[in-house]
Amino acid sequence: MKIEFQAKKLNKIKADIELALVIGKNLNHKWVKAKDFEDISFNGETDQISVLPHKKKIYIGAESLDHEDLRIAVGLGIKALDQYKFKSLKIGLYGDNFENIKAIAEGLLLGEYKYEKHKSKPKKRELNKVIFSNEEYSDLKINPEIVKNALKEAQILSEAVLFTRDLVNSTPSELTPVKFSEIAKEMALKHGLSIKVYGEDFLKKEGMGAFLAVSKASPFPPQLIHLVYKPKNFKSKIALVGKGLTYDSGGLSLKPSQALVNMKSDESGASAVLGTMLAISKSQLPIEVHAILGVTENMIGQHAYKPDDILKAKNGKTIEVKNTDAEGRLVLADCLCYAQELKPDFILDLATLTGACKAALGDYTIGLMGNDAGLKQSLIEAGQRSGELIAELPFNRYLKQFLKSETADISNVPSVRMGDAISAGLFLNEFIEKKYKNKWVHLDIAGPAYVEKSWAYNSYGASGAGVRIIFEWLKSSI
Ligand code: BES
Ligand code: ZN
Ligand code: ZN
Repeated sequence: MKIEFQAKKLNKIKADIELALVIGKNLNHKWVKAKDFEDISFNGETDQISVLPHKKKIYIGAESLDHEDLRIAVGLGIKALDQYKFKSLKIGLYGDNFENIKAIAEGLLLGEYKYEKHKSKPKKRELNKVIFSNEEYSDLKINPEIVKNALKEAQILSEAVLFTRDLVNSTPSELTPVKFSEIAKEMALKHGLSIKVYGEDFLKKEGMGAFLAVSKASPFPPQLIHLVYKPKNFKSKIALVGKGLTYDSGGLSLKPSQALVNMKSDESGASAVLGTMLAISKSQLPIEVHAILGVTENMIGQHAYKPDDILKAKNGKTIEVKNTDAEGRLVLADCLCYAQELKPDFILDLATLTGACKAALGDYTIGLMGNDAGLKQSLIEAGQRSGELIAELPFNRYLKQFLKSETADISNVPSVRMGDAISAGLFLNEFIEKKYKNKWVHLDIAGPAYVEKSWAYNSYGASGAGVRIIFEWLKSSI
């Protein structure tokens, strides 16, 4: 879908259909014709949609003029239009600011996505052009430069989110660890990022025994992928670490059948980091960014690592395996050690780490953990600006005690299974050196990364969770 801007009033723009939002149930507005609804029950409630093909108009109820309310409303609208044959759409602007204009474009571009690669008869997408008018909801004067910049950023970010969604939606047999690194290489080459992909020998040499153990039952070699975006002038250096389990069977602590379904999405953290790298390089942010992706499979078989094994991580710490399904933290432990050696200013990790995070916060919200209140607050604010939901899960000293092991330095699961999302974060914290304690945050994206229903401007399956919030956070750190 192409979005273009025309400095014209809405009624001067030619298009097959016009999209109008009903803001806060206000049916008394120049773009809303109340008589359109005389014989239907539309009253502009939030998320209510009315497509009137004979009037060439679609109405959607939006809660307010807040950017996320706009993003959601147009996302729902574009999804509703999927059933129709309109080829072009026109829309007015809601606010004269960058955030609101960008949000409308994002709602459209993210909302139209559907994963249909494996459908033998994918539905043809009819709508291919959207025209933004310079007419504004409250008759504010529009600066075309702002529209241009907002559209550009929305396009870059949406492309990155859709790239991430495609990776996460891929089946586990097509997206193997090796295939993942091939895609990463192709992306890096195309966008001028440097990339190194390390296999088993490197992990052995570096003493990454935790990551290696997880990969042992897979026929595919583990892939430690390190991408670097380094502009000429940069103000800071950031490391983004991603959990990349292309499949998580649970290993010998095998998941029950129902819990295996959707475990193809366990590389969502690494995929989001890769998508973010794409967005960063396209927008030329003045920050040096390193992506460290731990990509492997957690499988069963004669070579599988076992409960009772004791592993040694890169920093020398020993880990007693009590459950092979708590594999993400093992991969991340080694990747976090690797990331700290790069001496970045901050480290952020993204991972579908625990079902408990999903249980605690629900499907839609990222769990945020770390030691520094200011850093966590900066992510909460980036969440608000990006439209991604995020909430803090606080660390505490009591849960930490349950990670004690009688035979090794630490156990990979707590002895008391409550507060599992926080325990997982506390486990990672054990692999963060003192000087990095306040420079690291962990984002558990197990809830929003993959949802079995469409929600707002997300469709069934992968949402690309993490890309927009991290990009927004990086931008604010400039
Ligand atoms: N990949 C899962 C977490 C997960 C569960 C993500 C559901 C998305 C949806 C992770 O590796 C895992 O299995 N975690 C265990 C940890 C437990 C053994 C301490 C879990 O959540 O049950
Ligand atoms: Zn697992
Ligand atoms: Zn996992």
